[in-house]
Order: sequence, then structure tokens, then C-alpha cells
Amino acid sequence: MKVFITGDLPGNAVDLLLKNKIEVVVFDKDRALTKEEFVKYAKDADGVISLLRDKIDSEIIDSMPNCKVIANYAVGFNNIDVAYAKKKKIVVVNTPDVLTDSTADIAMSLVLACARRIPEGEKIVRNKKFKGWGPKLLLGYELRNKNFGILGAGRIGAATALRAKAFGCNILYYSNHQNLKLEKATGAIKMPLKTLIKNSDVISIHLPLTAKTNNLLNEGILKLLKPSAILINTARGEVVDEKVLIQMLKEKKIFSAGFDVYQNEPNINPELFKLDNVVLLPHIGSATVEARTEMADLSAKNVIAVLSGKKAITPVN
Ligand code: DGY
Repeated sequence: MKVFITGDLPGNAVDLLLKNKIEVVVFDKDRALTKEEFVKYAKDADGVISLLRDKIDSEIIDSMPNCKVIANYAVGFNNIDVAYAKKKKIVVVNTPDVLTDSTADIAMSLVLACARRIPEGEKIVRNKKFKGWGPKLLLGYELRNKNFGILGAGRIGAATALRAKAFGCNILYYSNHQNLKLEKATGAIKMPLKTLIKNSDVISIHLPLTAKTNNLLNEGILKLLKPSAILINTARGEVVDEKVLIQMLKEKKIFSAGFDVYQNEPNINPELFKLDNVVLLPHIGSATVEARTEMADLSAKNVIAVLSGKKAITPVN
């Protein structure tokens, strides 16, 4: 058996695979593979551990006739043609749960960085422009008593809501399903998207990217945001109409926005660099030693399970 890993992972994934007598090939360059490279390395693989930056379409899937399992080293799996993989009897797995707290932490970090204008403050100090304490210097917003709208009440959305509750926020949520546990723990109120957007002081996006959520926050929806609103995206850039959002930020139609994800990653709209009312992170939601190590273990364990004829631990198809 052979497994191709499309990047160098932290943790023990390689050791786990080797212990199970699985040959491992790792692409050791820190970048996405070209299609040609992918086909070259994976053509005889029985399993693949892929990264978010690798697009696994029907052509790639067809080029791996032996492949039985694709383990995406992420919770989101919009980079994989899951339906086509299913047609080819390939199990696709992801890494839920293990990155929930890390991602919720980064969402709250962005909320606080936006609300309290942390990067602007840092810039002043680093540029030696700090002239002393001032009553109007970098006024931001407190979180206490603010309406905190969560889009998507899955694991990460719910974990973010718990954190916001601890800061004294009222939790509103938009979701396809009612999350009774979340409601019980935080007093969260479920509501339609437009109502949530109009009433929230902070909005944090935790929706997977699907045909339904692509561009969900379009111009019509974004225009409903309060002028004091803070919008945080740690999910997928494509959920928001980035161009409209940038225009609104330029015109100060909302207070600020925190981005961990972008529409054309890793190519970032250069207009964003000109804005002071944004916080820009390089897609590091799950980037903790704990989460990334557990993600690697879970990916390897899933692959081992499928290749030894057992059920996958966290299948998505
Ligand atoms: C995910 O898991 O989907 C994140 O975006 C990357 O860790």
C-alpha cells in the first residue's frame, strides 16, 4: 500500500502509516502541486492525504485508479469533488472536532483585534508615532451587551458563541438546523439571515462553502449591516462578496472586518492593504500545535482504517 501526502505535516502521521506497513511519499515543497505533479506522485497511490490548497477534481481522481481514500487535512472539503469521489467509490474524510477550539479562538482574536483596533495601535507604536495617552486615541467598542451574530451553528460556530457569551454578548444565530444545546448554553436566538444581519453588532461566519453559501453575503445582505458592525470571516472567502465589502469598508459603511480567509487565496485583493479598518490573517484558524498535530493523526488513522477494510472515522461521503 502507498499513501501520498501533499505536504509536510506536523505530528506523527508518517510514523503511524509506516508502522502499519504503508509506504509514504511526501511532497516536500511548501506550495500547491501542479496538476502534472499531482498525477505523477499519486497515480499509483492507494490513499492520499491532501491539503486545502490542492484542488482534487474529477481529472485528478481519474488519474488515481488504486485510490480508496482521500483524507483532507482540514475540516472544510470544498477543494475536493466529493460527489465524483463517491461515484468512484473513494472515501473522503476530513478533520472535524480537533480544530474547533483553535478556530474559535482565532475568530475571537479577530473580533477583539477589530473591536479594539489592535493592529492600528501596533502600527502607531512600531512607527514611533505614539505621542502619549490621549482621550480620543483609537476608540473602539466593548463587547459587553452587544449582539453577536453567528452564521452557522455547527461545532466552530457554537464554540465561538460560547466565547462571545463569556464576553457578555447576546448570541443570535442563523442556521439550517436548530441547535438546542447552543440555545441552552448561551441563550442564543435563531433567526433569519436578514434579521440577524440588521440586528448584530458583530457577525462571525462559520458556514461551510457550498453552492448554497457561495456569495451568501451578497450586496443586498451586506448593505443591511449596521454602520458600527464588525464582520469576521474564518470560514471561506467565497461566502462573502469581497468587492462590495471592501467598498463598504472604504466608505466606512461598517466599522471594521477581520479576515482569516479570502476569495482568491493566496492572492489577496490589493485594495485590502490600503485599509486601516481591517485585520488580515493568512488563513491560520487551525494553526496551533495541538490542532495541527491532531489533524495529522486523525488523517493518518482514517487512511489506515479504510486501507485495512474498516470504516472511516470521520467520513464526509
Ligand atoms: C479548515 O480546516 O477547513 C481550515 O480552513 C484550515 O484548517
